[in-house]
Amino acid sequence: MSEAKSKTGGLAGVSAGQTAISTVGEGHGLCYRGYSIDDLAEKACFEEVAYLLLRGSLPTRQQLEQFRSSLESQREVPKDLRDILEKLPASTHPMDILRTGCSVLGCLEPEADSSQQDAIAVRLMATFPGMLLYWHRFHQEGVRIETASDADSLAEHFLEMLHGKKPDPLWIRAMDASLTLYAEHEFNASTFSARVTVATRSDFYSAVTSAIGTLRGPLHGGANEAAMELIDRYQTADEAEAGMLKALENRELVMGFGHRVYKTCDPRSDIIKTWSKKLADSVGDSRLYPVSERIEQVMWDRKKLFPNLDFYSASAYRFMGIPTPMFTPIFVCSRISGWAAHIFEQRANNRLIRPSADYVGPEQRPFLPLEQRG
Ligand code: ACO
Repeated sequence: MSEAKSKTGGLAGVSAGQTAISTVGEGHGLCYRGYSIDDLAEKACFEEVAYLLLRGSLPTRQQLEQFRSSLESQREVPKDLRDILEKLPASTHPMDILRTGCSVLGCLEPEADSSQQDAIAVRLMATFPGMLLYWHRFHQEGVRIETASDADSLAEHFLEMLHGKKPDPLWIRAMDASLTLYAEHEFNASTFSARVTVATRSDFYSAVTSAIGTLRGPLHGGANEAAMELIDRYQTADEAEAGMLKALENRELVMGFGHRVYKTCDPRSDIIKTWSKKLADSVGDSRLYPVSERIEQVMWDRKKLFPNLDFYSASAYRFMGIPTPMFTPIFVCSRISGWAAHIFEQRANNRLIRPSADYVGPEQRPFLPLEQRG
């Protein structure tokens, strides 16, 4: 490992600015604007959490109703965007659908100035599920679904569009908790890229597009899809144990484990694990959950590595009938609330984000014209 990498590789441990949005990591616990993730996931709905992130305090009952109805009234995906979604290939990764959808909405409804930022945040939060599921159902089933809906929550709206029927209340609650868990996480890679983009005084949509592109990678949000592929390899817990021992012997990176900030546990993992168990029991699963638990056990016994939020989210989503390529897009549908809060915060006290680098290339040297280079 080079000296530069050992000191600042990946900016590990480097503070890149101040935030009033969340605390992360040992010593602080995960809190959104001072409220613990345990309380929020158990006692608040995702819409309350999104309001908290965007506006800084928990809503009153009346404020929550207004927020819900503005989200509801903004759900319909514009016709021009639906036409484009129909033209995108069925083989496109759904994250690319959301990245493109965000970009197209930025052309159809551009941000004239920052006074529109709150309205754009609400619009993206309201339309992301519709963009994704309109494209999905059109290409998978040849149907043009209604993206406007009077569903009470984003969780219900998403599941209803996906399955074409009213979702099981247990699924709505599980999805809602999962959206809360994914909503915000300080200066994670995608949020940081949104802040870098907006710090150049670029527009809101460009910042969110940068963030989606960053979230897509398997070291970040894409890990939930990769974790599902891992769990799916095994039919039994014993098979999983044997497979994992081999994987660790081969020094494979195991998706859904480890974290840059947390060193002993991810506080979100136990919450989603509890939901995964409830869902497993409700669908009569006797494979995925025991396989997941055994993988967790091997990873801890052998590597002292713990599951992060992505690991048990994978089985929880599978139990709700969600196709694996939609796992990371669900992260987008939630994290837009955190990204938006960070965009607001960056703009309120902006300075261009432009770090420096330690140069390790060749010394200055004379330029040889092409004809002298042989
Ligand atoms: N599987 C196997 N070994 C691991 C894992 C893992 N998931 N995570 C860390 N390690 C090992 C590393 O190989 C390294 O070992 P070494 O010192 O022998 O080289 C050691 O633990 C330290 O790991 P780093 O890579 O230095 O940790 P870093 O902070 O850079 O990476 C990261 C954090 C990217 C999350 C890493 O743990 C990882 O790749 N995990 C898998 C991907 C994943 O689950 N990402 C989701 C993150 S959470 C989220 O986005 C909601």
